[in-house]
Amino acid sequence: MPQISMTVNGKKVSGEAGPSTLLVDFLRGDLGLTGTHVGCDTSQCGACVVHMNGDSVKACTVLAHQAEGADVVTIEGLAPGAELHPLQAAFNEAHGLQCGFCTPGMVMSAADLIAKNPSPTEAEIRSWLKGNMCRCTGYHNIVKAVQIAAANMAAGAKTAAE
Ligand code: FES
Ligand code: FES
Repeated sequence: MPQISMTVNGKKVSGEAGPSTLLVDFLRGDLGLTGTHVGCDTSQCGACVVHMNGDSVKACTVLAHQAEGADVVTIEGLAPGAELHPLQAAFNEAHGLQCGFCTPGMVMSAADLIAKNPSPTEAEIRSWLKGNMCRCTGYHNIVKAVQIAAANMAAGAKTAAE
């Protein structure tokens, strides 16, 4: 099988992947990064969202070899250290999860949104997250969590700049 290599969560990794191996299967099966979930396998639910070269992508829709040489970040690599990422903390604070199955994808999508638009409106958050489905929490608290995280991150960035 052909070898592929990429950077995942800041570390160079390599492995074997066939021409039809999906990125999500490479991440979960070969690298053991099972925080990225598979809900539908058909690009609908968003449970598998990771970042590839700075953009959120559905990892069930990307072939592993398309990520050759890419910089990939999964939910395991989002927080810089032992502390939760502000989005993870806000999901906790706002009760943005119940079973948590959708949460990694929601958090990774929201992180991409805030990176591109640090002060999103509620409508912008709802629109951005329309590719992420939650079957048990409902969306209100998820949107609230993203709003809290965006505000906290903006305040943190302002403090750091002072
Ligand atoms: S598993 Fe990828 S979008 Fe549902
Ligand atoms: S928290 Fe259960 S599917 Fe969203």
